[in-house]
Amino acid sequence: MRESLKILAIVLAAALAGSCADTLDLDALTKPRYETGRQHGAQLCASCHEEIYKQWSQRSRHSQATKSASFRRAVEDLQGNVLLAGLVKESMCYSCHGSKTRDQGVNCETCHGRPLAGVPIETTHERKYTPRLATMRKPNFCAKCHEVKAPITGDSFMSLHSEWKQSEAAARGLTCQRCHMAKRADDTHAYHGFDTAVRDISIYRGDLRISNIVVDPPGMRLTLENRVKGHSVPASGPTRVLALEVALNSGDGEVLHREHRTFSKRFSMLPVIGGVPLWLTDNSQLASGEKRRLRFAFPEYEFARSEKLIIILRMYEVADQHQGDVGKAHWKSKPIVRRVIKTK
Ligand code: HEC
Ligand code: HEC
Ligand code: HEC
Ligand code: HEC
Ligand code: HEC
Repeated sequence: MRESLKILAIVLAAALAGSCADTLDLDALTKPRYETGRQHGAQLCASCHEEIYKQWSQRSRHSQATKSASFRRAVEDLQGNVLLAGLVKESMCYSCHGSKTRDQGVNCETCHGRPLAGVPIETTHERKYTPRLATMRKPNFCAKCHEVKAPITGDSFMSLHSEWKQSEAAARGLTCQRCHMAKRADDTHAYHGFDTAVRDISIYRGDLRISNIVVDPPGMRLTLENRVKGHSVPASGPTRVLALEVALNSGDGEVLHREHRTFSKRFSMLPVIGGVPLWLTDNSQLASGEKRRLRFAFPEYEFARSEKLIIILRMYEVADQHQGDVGKAHWKSKPIVRRVIKTK
């Protein structure tokens, strides 16, 4: 009942969108998070900042934010949907994903600002870039794009900044930048690779753990712990899913039984307006510092035939319409944790 009322409210709100965009807070979403206008492009900065340019262009998803196949597809879906296109403008997407004309995703100018016109670049450094660094080192700066509420319902879509504010990291003054941009061994400047866990599991440095494994025929218990001090895992919205795979294997390696437990946010999407996430229906993310006890009950017959239990923890990236379904993932990480336990 509550669900259908909510749908009605949303349909009404959508119908009114043209006349009162304010109540939908779509205006706030369209407002560019950075300085817009004609950009020079990252090549200008690359001529002097080669190392940073390499990290940004070769490792950071920021450089792919307008180019990735999934973003392109999402924008096409948006344009192709009559109702949705009237409600949500493409410019809203670019307000966080970077300059449309440059197609370099979130680039140097997106974050640092455009060079001042008609003066040597050194003057821009002195008058603009250096003074701005102090604000850029604060987590509020990342929050502009990484903290976002779903349109209409206002449910939290990405809540990295609010989670961080309540975390142990914040209490200790450990910012987003300190964890994500810390200089590595040979770096001369703040690291601009913004590694992603899906592609590079070294970001965890042992922060995701499985412990207290107890085999209790025909089942098993274990503890999954998130020791990432800054925010929940998986971070962000519904496209990233952490999954624990458990498989019963026979002595000769045949898989007798396999199941997944997934940890992610799930949103309800209103079909008429396409894949726009509207309200949070479930959140099984592991909060910072959380230890979650999990129980598994296996089919008795398969358990009796099994010799070992293989436990694998991975991060997956799935498209919006397949939320939580790791079988439809377009990316999966290498195992973050892999354990083999004898059942006999
Ligand atoms: C002609 C060479 C040159 C170009 C082009 C250039 N920079 Fe720099 N930049 C420097 C030098 C030199 C420094 C000071 C030494 C260092 O930090 O590497 C610097 C420092 C900086 C700093 C740090 C300032 C500080 O106070 O620590 C930022 C931020 C920066 N540049 C951004 C940019 C951006 C963004 C672009 C492109 C729009 C750019 N630079 C283009 C030469 C250049
Ligand atoms: C102008 C908006 C913007 C700002 C400012 C910004 N980001 Fe991002 N960030 C994005 C977008 C958009 C993506 C997703 C790119 C993609 O996957 O296509 C992203 C991706 C990332 C990723 C990789 C996640 C993934 O999907 O693989 C990390 C980590 C990250 N950002 C951290 C930060 C941190 C830390 C800051 C602050 C220093 C920051 N970002 C500032 C827009 C921004
Ligand atoms: C408030 C800022 C913001 C707005 C507005 C926004 N995005 Fe994003 N988007 C992000 C961030 C940040 C990420 C990366 C999330 C992460 O990985 O943690 C992202 C990730 C994505 C991804 C997955 C990245 C990939 O390449 O696989 C797609 C697709 C996407 N956005 C499409 C869109 C579309 C289409 C719109 C417009 C309807 C839009 N976004 C509007 C901030 C935004
Ligand atoms: C997602 C936003 C973002 C993008 C994109 C980005 N930067 Fe930065 N940059 C920052 C932040 C935040 C800092 C401050 C980091 C710190 O000191 O912790 C910074 C610092 C710097 C510094 C000073 C480094 C130091 O150690 O003092 C330079 C130079 C710089 N950026 C150049 C660039 C260049 C060149 C590009 C493009 C190739 C670029 N940045 C792209 C956010 C960004
Ligand atoms: C104590 C260190 C720490 C702090 C502080 C921190 N993070 Fe993270 N972050 C991590 C680790 C470790 C991961 C990998 C786990 C995951 O993907 O959920 C991660 C993942 C992410 C991701 C997803 C990347 C991916 O591919 O999974 C984004 C986006 C991100 N952080 C942004 C932020 C922002 C924005 C802030 C500040 C509001 C922040 N982080 C603060 C350590 C930190």
